[in-house]
Amino acid sequence: MTKPNVLSGMQPSAGSLHLGNYLGALINWVEMQDDYNAFYCVVDLHAITVAQDPAELRRNTRVTAAQYLAAGIDENKSALFVQSHVPAHAQLAWVLMTMTGFGEAGRMTQFKDKTQKGGTDVASVGLFTYPVLMAADILLYQANKVPVGEDQRQHLELTRDLATRFNSRFGETFAIPEGVIFKETAKIFDLQNPTAKMSKSGDPKGLVNIMDDSSVILKKIKSAVTDTDAEIRFDRETKPGVSNLLGIHSAISGQSIESLEDHFAGKGYGDLKSEVAEVVLSRIEPIRDRANELLTDEAELDRLLAQGAQKANELAEKTLGMVYDRIGFIPSGR
Ligand code: TYM
Repeated sequence: MTKPNVLSGMQPSAGSLHLGNYLGALINWVEMQDDYNAFYCVVDLHAITVAQDPAELRRNTRVTAAQYLAAGIDENKSALFVQSHVPAHAQLAWVLMTMTGFGEAGRMTQFKDKTQKGGTDVASVGLFTYPVLMAADILLYQANKVPVGEDQRQHLELTRDLATRFNSRFGETFAIPEGVIFKETAKIFDLQNPTAKMSKSGDPKGLVNIMDDSSVILKKIKSAVTDTDAEIRFDRETKPGVSNLLGIHSAISGQSIESLEDHFAGKGYGDLKSEVAEVVLSRIEPIRDRANELLTDEAELDRLLAQGAQKANELAEKTLGMVYDRIGFIPSGR
C-alpha cells in the first residue's frame, strides 16, 4: 500500500526557529516521517513577501534547513528542499490566484494582522496572495496531512476550498488536505506576554530561539511572567503564564499536565521555571549544536537540499502538468 503524503514548511525569516515552531510543528514532522511520504520545505518565496536582506536570506535559508535536520528530519526518509528550487510552486500559485476571490483573500486574518500597523499601502501584493502560494505548496504534493500550528488553520481552510473548487470545475485533480494541529502545542505563548503567541515579531525577551546560547534561554525562562498567587495549576484563562510553562514542559517531557500539577504541588514558581529551563535546554542544546555543525559544511548542506529538490520536482511537475492540461493549456512539447 502506498503511504499518504505529508507536506509542511517554515519561513527562513530569522536566524533561528523558535520554541513555537519546534513544538507546534517540527516535532510532529519528525514523528510523521515513517508513516508518510514526507515533503518538508524552507519557504523562501514566502519570506520575500516582506523585505529581506539578500545575504541574510541566504544564511537564514541554510540555518532553517540545518535545524530541520538537527531536529530529526532524515533526508533519506523525507524530501527536504527549498521552495524556490521547485518552480512549480510559483506556477501553480498563479493558476490558483485566478480562482481565488479578491474578498476571499482579503478575509485572511494573518494579512489583516500584518497590515494593521503599516496599512495596506506599504504591504506588497505578494503578502496579500501569500495564502494562495501556501495552497500551491500543499496541493502540488497531493498532501493528505499538513502538520502546523493553530495560526495556519485559516490558510488550510482556504487550501481545502481551492482544491475542492478546482476539482469540481476540472475533475478530480487534488487530494483534499487535512491539518494536523495538536491542541496542546498548537499555540506556544510569549513568555513575557502569555496571552499572545510566541513569535519573532513579539517581545524578544519572551521568545526562546533554538539557536540562542543556553545562558540566554535560561535567563528568558527564569524571567517568564507568571502571576501573583503561588499555585502551580493549569488554567489558560486565569493563569496563562503558568499554563504556558506547564504546556512547554509537558510537550517535551511527555508527562501529562495532571501529573505535572501533582509533581509541583507545594512547590514555587522558581522550581517550575528551573525545571522547565532544564527540560527545554536538554532538548534544544543538542539540536543547536548539531545545526551549527551542519552549517560548517555548506556544500554538503546544499547537496542534501538539491537531492530533496529533485525528489520534490518529480511529483510537483507531474501535478502541474495535470493541472495545465485540465485547464486547457496546450503541451509545451518539451
Ligand atoms: P511560520 O514560518 O510562521 O511558522 C512555521 C510553523 O510554526 C508554527 N508556529 C507555532 N506553533 C505553535 N506556537 C507558536 N507560537 C507558533 N508560531 C509558529 C506555525 O503554525 C507553522 O506551522 N505560512 C506558514 C509557512 C508555510 C506553510 C506552507 C506551512 C508556507 N507554505 C505549506 C504548511 C504548509 C508560516 O508562515 O509558518
